Amino acid sequence: MQPNASLLLQLLFVVSQSSSPLVITFDDVPNSSLNYTTTIPNGYKNLNWTNGLVLNTTGRPDYRLTGFYTVLKSGQFVGYNVDQKPLTIHSSATGQVFSISSFTIAATFVNNTQLTIVGQRSCELLYTQTLLLKVLPPATVIVLNWINLDSLILTVTNGSQFAMDELSVSISSAAIITRYRAGE
Ligand SMILES: *[C@@H]1O[C@H](CO)[C@@H](O)[C@H](O)[C@H]1NC(C)=O
Ligand SMILES: *[C@@H]1O[C@H](CO)[C@@H](O)[C@H](O)[C@H]1NC(C)=O
Ligand SMILES: *[C@@H]1O[C@H](CO)[C@@H](O)[C@H](O)[C@H]1NC(C)=O
Ligand SMILES: *[C@@H]1O[C@H](CO)[C@@H](O)[C@H](O)[C@H]1NC(C)=O
Ligand SMILES: *[C@@H]1O[C@H](CO)[C@@H](O)[C@H](O)[C@H]1NC(C)=O
Ligand SMILES: *[C@@H]1O[C@H](CO)[C@@H](O)[C@H](O)[C@H]1NC(C)=O
Repeated sequence: MQPNASLLLQLLFVVSQSSSPLVITFDDVPNSSLNYTTTIPNGYKNLNWTNGLVLNTTGRPDYRLTGFYTVLKSGQFVGYNVDQKPLTIHSSATGQVFSISSFTIAATFVNNTQLTIVGQRSCELLYTQTLLLKVLPPATVIVLNWINLDSLILTVTNGSQFAMDELSVSISSAAIITRYRAGE
């Protein structure tokens, strides 16, 4: 017997997403006790990281008057970018998206370091913002409230590196998109 044609055309999409808001303090990167500077590994906080490092500020008292200390809000560690390369935070799984509320940021060594922040999903540009960073306190708190990203890219175009702390994100579990076709 043929299934009803109208039932055959019925498609049902089930999108299952659960969000977990968290504040990334960079104080719990694996193996960061081994060296004062450590690479942020893929999977840290369920995100993938490119060109990300953490610095144990306590191990570098000589950096007291740099942006590394300016941004330190909690614990001992801050995040920063390798050399002057772009720091990218990606979804760690296909279909996973995240939202960025805010973070604290400063230039490590040079005032007026220009930073461009880009938010993307599926390689499509959704958001962008450019600003100048300074070295000494008060640190800049950037409030973005950018939602449903799969990549956040922070690029410095001159000056020095940047350092960041208290990155407020909300990560959705991989969106499970199931397609049911009635009659099959
Ligand atoms: C931490 O260090 C151990 C021992 O060197 C190594 O096996 C492990 O892969 C490291 N973990 C990360 C996330 O780098
Ligand atoms: C950070 O560095 C300080 C000084 O070297 C050290 O005492 C402390 O154990 C380090 N913290 C971690 C979590 O490794
Ligand atoms: C610590 O530094 C050593 C020497 O530079 C390096 O070989 C090692 O991979 C580093 N460990 C971590 C966890 O970054
Ligand atoms: C995230 O990193 C892990 C480990 O390197 C890799 O297996 C995975 O494919 C990456 N995820 C994405 C979406 O690229
Ligand atoms: C950055 O600018 C501040 C305020 O003008 C100044 O006090 C400080 O010395 C400058 N720092 C550097 C590293 O140029
Ligand atoms: C970086 O470029 C911007 C825009 O041209 C400029 O305002 C800023 O002063 C530059 N900063 C440095 C450190 O050269």
